[in-house]
Amino acid sequence: MAGIIRDATPTDAAEIAALLKPYVEKKILLHRSLDEIRENADKTVVYLDQGRIVGTTSLVFFSETLCEIRALVIDDTAQGSGIGKKLVLAAEEKALRLQTARPLKFFALTYTPEFFERVGYQRTTKDMFPEKIYEVCNFCLRKDDCHEIAVQKISAG
Ligand SMILES: CC(C)(COP(=O)(O)OP(=O)(O)OC[C@H]1O[C@@H](n2cnc3c(N)ncnc32)[C@H](O)[C@@H]1OP(=O)(O)O)[C@@H](O)C(=O)NCCC(=O)NCCS
Repeated sequence: MAGIIRDATPTDAAEIAALLKPYVEKKILLHRSLDEIRENADKTVVYLDQGRIVGTTSLVFFSETLCEIRALVIDDTAQGSGIGKKLVLAAEEKALRLQTARPLKFFALTYTPEFFERVGYQRTTKDMFPEKIYEVCNFCLRKDDCHEIAVQKISAG
């Protein structure tokens, strides 16, 4: 599928929210308000196919050297054609542009570690990311019943 990857803008928020919605309903992704999506647009990348956003992911920096790949979703009509991999790699490149400190460690909490392994990530444990646990997981309704798997990748840039 030929398409383009670009940085998101605040005006993409409704389209991004619509993309996330089915996976929020399946409890694979956490709900994000339109305001949150707009505020994080400068740390979000989108994949467009014929002008329509069919994929997105965001960066969340916990420090100068620790960055989460979050809210990754590809529209179910577009899955399995390499878009997820391209988007994660584009998000990493964006993070490396935004942050000069090296090495930069990327991580994700996911139900599909196999996908991340195909993009160069390795499985690890959530306790490697206390910043995430203190700032986010402790406030999550599913904190006592979380089956997400942690994956990480270290980039010297
Ligand atoms: C997981 C997801 C992001 C993958 O995106 P995608 O565009 O379908 O994946 P790609 O086509 O880029 O796949 C890249 C590689 O990962 C593999 N892969 C993708 N999804 C996989 C899965 N669920 N299980 C195992 N391998 C998978 C592909 O076979 C491909 O392997 P290759 O490099 O050997 O060809 C997408 O399926 C999705 O949005 N799922 C629903 C939401 C979700 O689970 N998000 C992740 C939350 S962290």
